Amino acid sequence: MLEIRNLNAHYGHSQVLYDISIDVKAGEFVSIIGANGAGKSTLMKVIMGLVPVSSGKLLFKGNEISRLEPWQRAGMKIAYVPEGRRVFGELTVAENLRIGGWVEPPQDLPRRVEKVVAIFPRLGERMNQAARTMSGGEQQMLAIGRALMLEPELLLVDEISMGLMPILVNRCFEVLKQLSEAGTTILLVEQNARKALGVSHRGYVLETGHIVLEGEATRLRDDDAVRRAYLGG
Ligand SMILES: Nc1ncnc2c1ncn2[C@@H]1O[C@H](COP(=O)(O)OP(=O)(O)OP(=O)(O)O)[C@@H](O)[C@H]1O
Ligand SMILES: [Mg+2]
Repeated sequence: MLEIRNLNAHYGHSQVLYDISIDVKAGEFVSIIGANGAGKSTLMKVIMGLVPVSSGKLLFKGNEISRLEPWQRAGMKIAYVPEGRRVFGELTVAENLRIGGWVEPPQDLPRRVEKVVAIFPRLGERMNQAARTMSGGEQQMLAIGRALMLEPELLLVDEISMGLMPILVNRCFEVLKQLSEAGTTILLVEQNARKALGVSHRGYVLETGHIVLEGEATRLRDDDAVRRAYLGG
């Protein structure tokens, strides 16, 4: 579904991603793990079109997408949950959700909102509340719910566990697992390697802009170097 080939990306003159090649097959759940500053968020932004590709290829379902605008990629059903739950604070939960579905036919939005509320009932209780007044966990649910309004074929998720209490981290990972089991293709970037590798089929390790290791999630979990660097021994 997603093919990244020999991709390089820069901010100005400073190169952040080096010769990245990643494949995500339809129905797969793939995680990219890496430390602070490895380039995880940059990679997500490149896939979404928020940071330009310097060279290399970015194919979605066989089509080159690297010159498309972010909204065109959203129209192809690539959805993005940004790092740090960037919800629209002054807008209500309902309005945030509608924005997530803005490329879709307006008459179809109520049905999609209902689907999201079935996954996150808490959002249903908070529909008219300003997003900024919600707890961190509720905002993360809203950020995921907003992305789900697209009924995405490919869901990009940046650090779902950041700053959340463990019970909510577990809930968010559970939701991703259920979405994956229901057929959504997921690419997740995470510092929480244990959780990420626990739910995904395959993983890649990103170190200072380079993919240094890839494999089945279970194999990465057992890899000595991964254990030492990312799983606490
Ligand atoms: N807008 C920007 N302009 C210049 N440099 C940037 C910009 N955004 C990120 N960088 C740099 O690119 C590198 C990768 O950053 P990125 O945010 O992709 O890392 P990350 O793996 O997501 O880190 P974290 O785990 O802290 O979220 C870092 O060295 C960072 O300082
Ligand atoms: Mg990041």
